[in-house]
Amino acid sequence: MEGYHLNPLLSREQIDSIVKKLAEQISRDYRGKELTLVCILKGAFMFLSDLVRYLEIPVKIDFARLASYGAGMKSSGTIEITKDVELPLEGRDILIIEDIVDSGRTLLFLKDRLVLANPRSVRICALLNKKARREVEIEVDYLGREVDDVFIVGYGIDFNENYRSLPEIYYVTPADQTKR
Ligand code: IMP
Ligand code: MG
Repeated sequence: MEGYHLNPLLSREQIDSIVKKLAEQISRDYRGKELTLVCILKGAFMFLSDLVRYLEIPVKIDFARLASYGAGMKSSGTIEITKDVELPLEGRDILIIEDIVDSGRTLLFLKDRLVLANPRSVRICALLNKKARREVEIEVDYLGREVDDVFIVGYGIDFNENYRSLPEIYYVTPADQTKR
């Protein structure tokens, strides 16, 4: 895309070691439990697919898709489910798999909704967290990496549906800002 510059933030190796570490923690904490992963589409698809290959415990996998209506890079807080979870969640331990937490509104909405299905527990695993941008209180139980208030792309994460397929993670800046 023209007018933007992609600045490297996390390499494939860095992502791999973050994901591996998260998988170790999750495998340890959920051993002997009935874990269902709920992956938030589309952004977390690549993270999920790498994470599950490092898990040492059996899991079930489901997907949810949420739309948040707002202008450009900022989400509005009006959230709607466009694809719901299909597996039964009652009595299960649920771990939500998210790419990046920004205002926190998407996760708060989904967590509140999943709780209605009477699961045994609901926790959150996010690859990236922009703590400075939080607008609602939500705890990230398994966090890959804290990031500054920058716009992220790659490794499943998009900018207007671009860059999802990149294996590395970048932050976007206007092209002229990088010319000094
Ligand atoms: P929240 O509801 O404000 O926390 O927004 C979370 C959602 O916004 C994430 O699932 C992402 O899809 C999207 N998002 C937040 N920050 C970024 C970013 O830096 N790049 C791309 N998408 C983002
Ligand atoms: Mg998302």
